[in-house]
Amino acid sequence: MSARKTIFLTGVTGTLGKEIVKKLLITTDDHLYLLIRRKNRFTHWDRVRKILAEMGLEIFLGTRVQVMEGDITRPGFGLEPHDLEILQREVTEFYHIAALTALNGSEAECMRINVGGTEEALKLAWQFRKSGCLERFFYFSTAYVSGSLRRFTALEDELPEQPYHANFYESSKYRAESKVREAMHAGLPVTIFRPSIVVGHSQTGAVSEFNVIYPFMKLFVHGLLSKLPTRLENSFNIVPIDFVVDAALAIARQENSVGRTFHLVTQQPPTMETLLELKEAEYPEIPDFEILDPDTFSKEALASNEQFVYEMLAPYLGYLNGLLGFDTTNTEKALEGTGVKFPKTDYDFCRTIFQYAVNSGYLIVPQKA
Ligand SMILES: NC(=O)c1ccc[n+]([C@@H]2O[C@H](COP(=O)([O-])OP(=O)(O)OC[C@H]3O[C@@H](n4cnc5c(N)ncnc54)[C@H](OP(=O)(O)O)[C@@H]3O)[C@@H](O)[C@H]2O)c1
Repeated sequence: MSARKTIFLTGVTGTLGKEIVKKLLITTDDHLYLLIRRKNRFTHWDRVRKILAEMGLEIFLGTRVQVMEGDITRPGFGLEPHDLEILQREVTEFYHIAALTALNGSEAECMRINVGGTEEALKLAWQFRKSGCLERFFYFSTAYVSGSLRRFTALEDELPEQPYHANFYESSKYRAESKVREAMHAGLPVTIFRPSIVVGHSQTGAVSEFNVIYPFMKLFVHGLLSKLPTRLENSFNIVPIDFVVDAALAIARQENSVGRTFHLVTQQPPTMETLLELKEAEYPEIPDFEILDPDTFSKEALASNEQFVYEMLAPYLGYLNGLLGFDTTNTEKALEGTGVKFPKTDYDFCRTIFQYAVNSGYLIVPQKA
């Protein structure tokens, strides 16, 4: 184990944040300060207790894990002065993971949480850096900052000047990453991670939340949509959650990852054809769906009830059309010798994540007649 760090993290109640906390607790002896907001009738303490209990790690609460109430959209995250003082004095690493990840989020909410929240994170990071002991700032961006609507290969250490965004999530993450890059160029020791579409564990398919691609799968499995404008050869970049966590933490430990950006993606994304093969071979009971040429597709080709569903799907379509490719030079170099390998996202992996979603009751496959 390397020297003990004191790490401040946001977004730890979310899909990725939870797994990062778990891995840090299991593989290091770092101390963690978690920023959590109150939600419904649950306090930040209730929420962290539940998460750690689910992981079997509640023993660390109050010892290696401290929790602070806050909301990233509030000035200084709305932290109590006493908490702020502790963070300023102790934090050596800051992971800003929190975001609004809904692909159908409104422009105002995406900007408020993703851009505003990141601006507040950067202000705090500067404060911890100037009068504290902050050594690293890690920011979770997305591989889709470049936009999913144009054929293009995204490079790691830059943002395109003319992105083609499909939704306000992408455009707000682009604006947020621009702010982070400005801070990096101004001397903040920043490392940026850009995962693609995060799905379940590489071996088990397990995931705590069924986000992003899963609701899309549901539309077809539950027979709500029967046609899709895409091509059989079009790919979609899914990445298992354990790869994202393992790669990010391996890269975070490297001193020379400061000032760099890393695509945490698969290098061989599955195609629509893989999905159709999976359906035919394993789940023939799922209603058939037809692939239509996107160049000539018109919404009117759909039945009226499906037109409504299709509109809900619009923010997702870019992810399924494989237009955006990702350079992985930085990630390849950084992972050399770490034991972390780019994931296999082939037919078997698609089957694993699908089966997990079925076995956990998220997807309900029609019974054979
Ligand atoms: N999942 C993916 O496919 C994917 C792909 C690429 C990049 N990313 C990026 O990775 C990061 C984590 O994604 P995720 O999938 O783990 O997200 P997620 O499951 O949607 O979780 C979002 C997290 O952000 C927190 N949050 C949102 N608004 C907040 C606020 N105002 N104050 C405090 N906390 C707030 C949430 O807290 P509450 O529980 O209180 O709501 C939750 O912990 C994000 O930055 C995302 O853009 C994710």
